[in-house]
Amino acid sequence: MQERLDGKLAIVTGAGQGIGKAVALRLAREGADVVVADINTQSAERTTEEIRSLNRRALSYSVDVSRPSEIQSMVDRAAAEFDGIDIIVNAAGVAQTGLFVDLTEQQWDRVIDTNLKGTTFCVQAVGRRMINQVPEQIRAEGCSDRCYGKIVNFSSISGRRGRAEQVPYAASKAAIISVTQSAALAFAPYNINVNAVCPGVVPTPMWEQIDRDRGRIAGLAPGESMKTFIERTPLKRPGSVEDVAGVVAFLCSPDSDYMTGQTLNVDGGFEMT
Ligand SMILES: NC(=O)c1ccc[n+]([C@@H]2O[C@H](COP(=O)([O-])OP(=O)(O)OC[C@H]3O[C@@H](n4cnc5c(N)ncnc54)[C@H](O)[C@@H]3O)[C@@H](O)[C@H]2O)c1
Repeated sequence: MQERLDGKLAIVTGAGQGIGKAVALRLAREGADVVVADINTQSAERTTEEIRSLNRRALSYSVDVSRPSEIQSMVDRAAAEFDGIDIIVNAAGVAQTGLFVDLTEQQWDRVIDTNLKGTTFCVQAVGRRMINQVPEQIRAEGCSDRCYGKIVNFSSISGRRGRAEQVPYAASKAAIISVTQSAALAFAPYNINVNAVCPGVVPTPMWEQIDRDRGRIAGLAPGESMKTFIERTPLKRPGSVEDVAGVVAFLCSPDSDYMTGQTLNVDGGFEMT
C-alpha cells in the first residue's frame, strides 16, 4: 500500500525521546526515511534502531542545535547520504522553570539558544537546501507544484501567553510562532510550507521535570501541577505523544499543501486562539 510519505527524507531534531521520538516513528510508519538528530547520542541510536526495525532507512546524528555550524554539518550529511531533504521537524527543546526574580543570564541564554536560535537556524539551513536541490530550470519557471518542502516547528501553549515561572521558555515559544510566519513568507515562492504546533500538557521527561520544579515553587506534591493543567483542559486529559505526532505527520504530508504560516494548538482545547 502506498503511504503518504513514501520516498521522503525527514530530519527530526530532539528525536531521542519524548514527542520528537514519537514524530520520528510516526513519519517512518508513514513511509519516510528519517535522520534522528539529538544532542543525546545514545537515545538517538535507540530511536534509529526502532525505525530500522520498521524497514525504513535511518541515520542517527549527534547535534547541538544551539550551534549553527553543527546544524549545517547535519544538513550537509543528511543531503549527501539521502539524496535531498523533504521534511524537517524541529522538536529539540529545553525548558526552565523558576521565579522571574531569580532568572539568570545563563538560564536565559540556554533556553533561547536551544529553542529559538536552534529552530531558526535549522529552518534556514534546511530551507536553503530545499531551494538549492530544485533543478535550476524548474526554479526559473516557478516551483509551484513541482517542489516539495515541509518544515514543522515546535512552539507550545506557553508561546500563546506569558508564564510567570517560565519566562525564557514562553518567550522562545512565542518567538517561534513569529519565525514560522516569517519563514512561511520567505519560502512560499519555492512551495515550502512552514507551520508550527503548540502542544498542551504531554507527559514526557520534559514535563516530569516541569512538574517537579513547579511543585517545588508552589509547594505541590508530584503530579499536582499537571493535575491543575488537566482540570483547565476541556478534554480533561493530558495529550499523548501520538496525539501530537499525528498532527505533525499531517503537516508533513501533501494533505496540508494549502497551509503555511499556521500554528496549530494540540492541547485538548486549552487555548482557543
Ligand atoms: N511535553 C510537553 O508537554 C510539551 C508541551 C509543549 C511543547 N513541548 C515542546 O515539544 C518539544 C519536545 O518536548 P518533549 O516534551 O518531548 O521534551 P523532552 O525533554 O522529552 O525531549 C527533548 C529532546 O530534545 C533534545 N535536545 C535538547 N537540547 C538539545 C540540543 N541543544 N540539540 C539537540 N537536541 C536537544 C533532548 O536530548 C531530548 O531528546 C519541545 O520543543 C518542547 O518545548 C512539549
